[in-house]
Parts: sequence; structure tokens; C-alpha cells
Amino acid sequence: MNDALDLLKSRRSIRKYKNKPVEEEKIQKCLEAARWAPSASNKQPWEFLIVTDEKVRMKLSEIHPYAKFVSESPVVFVPLTNPEIHQKYHMSDSALATMQYMIEAHSIGLGTCWAGVIGSSLEPEIKELLDVPDNLNVLGLVATGYANEEPTRTRKELEDLVHYEKY
Ligand SMILES: Cc1cc2nc3c(=O)[nH]c(=O)nc-3n(C[C@H](O)[C@H](O)[C@H](O)COP(=O)(O)O)c2cc1C
Repeated sequence: MNDALDLLKSRRSIRKYKNKPVEEEKIQKCLEAARWAPSASNKQPWEFLIVTDEKVRMKLSEIHPYAKFVSESPVVFVPLTNPEIHQKYHMSDSALATMQYMIEAHSIGLGTCWAGVIGSSLEPEIKELLDVPDNLNVLGLVATGYANEEPTRTRKELEDLVHYEKY
């Protein structure tokens, strides 16, 4: 088993993409990683949608003010949550699946950026565009492709976050 820390620390949200297609096998690996995420009672309250059509990606980028980059990324992963399967944890479980997708993508040389959708005023329009059934929610749009930038990011220090034994 390899230590995942370097992989986790080196992943960045990518908002500029190369004009280079993503191999289908790579997308399948990312989807497989998402499928194996943990979930409450192993209920797996998620489904996944992959969008590659350029016109649809352009439309998504017009609808979402903070996801312009989905017009550039050749693939958009759209995690869907099903509250009927788990009313309480559908969102957190599907977020874990999304994170696993993103980590696998990073480990095989792909960049991603998650743009939040669920609960926003944009969600109905995105659902309509993608023919998502009423009973499902769109968690977000995850741009996927070959990175054309190397962004840096900081984090809060552990000493400001961690408490031991009691708060
Ligand atoms: C739930 C969620 C929603 C996000 N929504 C957006 C978004 O709409 N647009 C965007 O550019 N980035 C979005 N991000 C990416 C964050 O801005 C990014 O993860 C954060 O700045 C840390 O940077 P890093 O991912 O490179 O470490 C989102 C991330 C998460 C987890």
C-alpha cells in the first residue's frame, strides 16, 4: 500500500485545460474510483453522468457563473445524488465519490475542478439541460482534462484546526 499523502497534497483545482482529448480508459478508471467510495450503510446514493458534447459543455459554462472552464475541459463529470436512497447522507456520500473520482484523476495525470451546484438556483436549469430525472440532485460539475496551468494553494495550519481529547 502506498502512502497517499503526497498525492493528496499535490492535487489542485484546474481551471485551464489543454485542447487534448482524455482517453476513455482513464475516465473509466475515475468512475471506478467513484463507485468504490464509502457510503452510509453502503447505500451508494449516487449516479454519475459524463458529458463530452461541446455544445452542452458550452451551455453549462453559460449557465454556471463560476464554471466557465467546463467549456475548455473535454470531459465534465456530473455526480448525481439520490435522496430517496439515503435522505440524510446522499450529499456527503456523493461528495466522497466525487473526491475519489478527483483523486484517481490526479493520480493518472488528469486535472479536475469541482463547481458546486446542489441547492443553488442554477440546479433546475442544469437538470433540464441534462435530462436529469426529478428525484435526483446535481451535486456539481467536475471539469476533467489535461491541465494547462500549475496553480498553488495554501491551507490553514493544523495547529489552528486540531484539538486533542477535548475542545
Ligand atoms: C463543494 C465545492 C464547490 C466548489 N465550487 C467551485 C466553483 O463553483 N468554481 C470554482 O472555480 N471552484 C470551485 N471549487 C474549488 C475550490 O475553489 C477549491 O477546491 C479550493 O479553492 C481549494 O483549492 P484546491 O482544490 O486547488 O486545493 C469548489 C470546491 C468544492 C469542494
